[in-house]
Amino acid sequence: MDFDIWILSMPPTPDKKSKPTKSAPTLLRGFKDILPEDAPYWQRAYKVASKLLSDYGFSEINTPILEAASLFRRTLGEGTDIVDKEMFTFTDRSRDSVALRPEMTAGICRAYVEHGMFNRPQPVKLWSWGPLFRYDRPQAGRFRQFHQLDIEIIGNDREVADAEVIFLAHLFCQEIGLEATVQINSLGSPESRQEYNKILKDYYRSKRRLLCEDCKKRLVKNVLRLLDCKQPGCQPLIHEAPQLVDHLDDESQRHFVKVLEYLAESEVPYVLNPYIVRGLDYYNRTAFELWPSFATQRVATEGKPAGDEAVSVPNALGGGGRYDGLIEQIGGRSTPAVGLAFGLERVIDLMKSAKVSPEASRPEVFLAQLGEEAAKHAFSLFEKLRRADFRVVANFARESLKGQLELANKLGVVFAVILGQKELLDGTVIIRDMENGIQEVVDLNKICDELGKRLKKKRGG
Ligand code: HAM
Repeated sequence: MDFDIWILSMPPTPDKKSKPTKSAPTLLRGFKDILPEDAPYWQRAYKVASKLLSDYGFSEINTPILEAASLFRRTLGEGTDIVDKEMFTFTDRSRDSVALRPEMTAGICRAYVEHGMFNRPQPVKLWSWGPLFRYDRPQAGRFRQFHQLDIEIIGNDREVADAEVIFLAHLFCQEIGLEATVQINSLGSPESRQEYNKILKDYYRSKRRLLCEDCKKRLVKNVLRLLDCKQPGCQPLIHEAPQLVDHLDDESQRHFVKVLEYLAESEVPYVLNPYIVRGLDYYNRTAFELWPSFATQRVATEGKPAGDEAVSVPNALGGGGRYDGLIEQIGGRSTPAVGLAFGLERVIDLMKSAKVSPEASRPEVFLAQLGEEAAKHAFSLFEKLRRADFRVVANFARESLKGQLELANKLGVVFAVILGQKELLDGTVIIRDMENGIQEVVDLNKICDELGKRLKKKRGG
């Protein structure tokens, strides 16, 4: 793609670091390399997500990173920070306005409509994993390119769908070793929210002079966003503001109570947070965020509104809600839906700071080889062990047995399987217990059985 001839329509703030200089090019501001040392964390999170979601009947979907800019403008809402300030929007060679996706839900819903997924058994349960782009102010946990794990249940309006998404989000955190708490609110129906918007506008009008410049604009464009403001000066006003939960329509109130009942039944820890309004316009009824449990305790005791960034450190791990109007908005038939997305950089950061081991499973067997002939056979033996589901590692490039065994020791494997010149001729192989150094010669054809028996014994089976 010829990026150099694209016309870039970006937010106006000049960005010193990303200006071309004569010196060697460096990473753009707000962008991040994922280095090899972090790869095990990413792999672990992906593995847990794909297993969990496939067990619960979700299918993976991957939509393009570039979409028509109008898709996002229409669904996320004019007046939201994402649309007004954070989209990477370009005009392409055909002079079409396109945007790097700032979130996944709109693209997934477009695909749902475009591929006639309403003809499939409902609900359609989808998940996705990939990069997103927002021209955000770079800071801890906030990047201009970041990644999400996104989960959607499309085609069901019942409380159980809201609860399933939240339950799975909590389970995902648990399975990767993180303690997370759900903070939840209800945004009601579009009609009840309109009523509430009027009440909120009246409240804020009398306090206009106390508002930050952004909030003065929000008062005209999108009053609900005032509750999402991060400026310290606006916080006392948010606390005093009338609350949305007190103005819910009956049906939304009933829906909310039922969702909470489901969560209590499934032992998902949650706290009610009336300040969760979300940064996107498409939500109705349930809105929620997942926070590291220690942050939620702080919010609860200090009484601060949560909302992304309201608490300096850390950030919300993920968020979502119900969006019953979105699919109709982009030309589909009326289809209720609910979903959430995790910010994966934040999830990985927390895994690292909580010292969660990225390895779901440590290698248990090291395959060592001695001599040229043995080295040639090492690949096929390695494959035999791998196919038999042993967690096996090797370093085929290392020649000295001593060096290989030192590595096996470092990796903390239980057994080393040693294939030497003599063993190869005899059709045998050595199994070395790495704990006590005891070695036994076993028939090469029976290696899987012999290894399996010994590992079972070690595990106390
Ligand atoms: P969101 O709250 O905008 O929701 O983003 C979800 C998560 O993405 C956030 O909680 C955060 O962890 C992460 N995130 C957002 N912006 C950044 C950033 N600049 N840098 C790093 N991480 C970030 C959505 O995107 C909705 N589409 C979620 C959804 C799915 N709702 C229904 N279905």
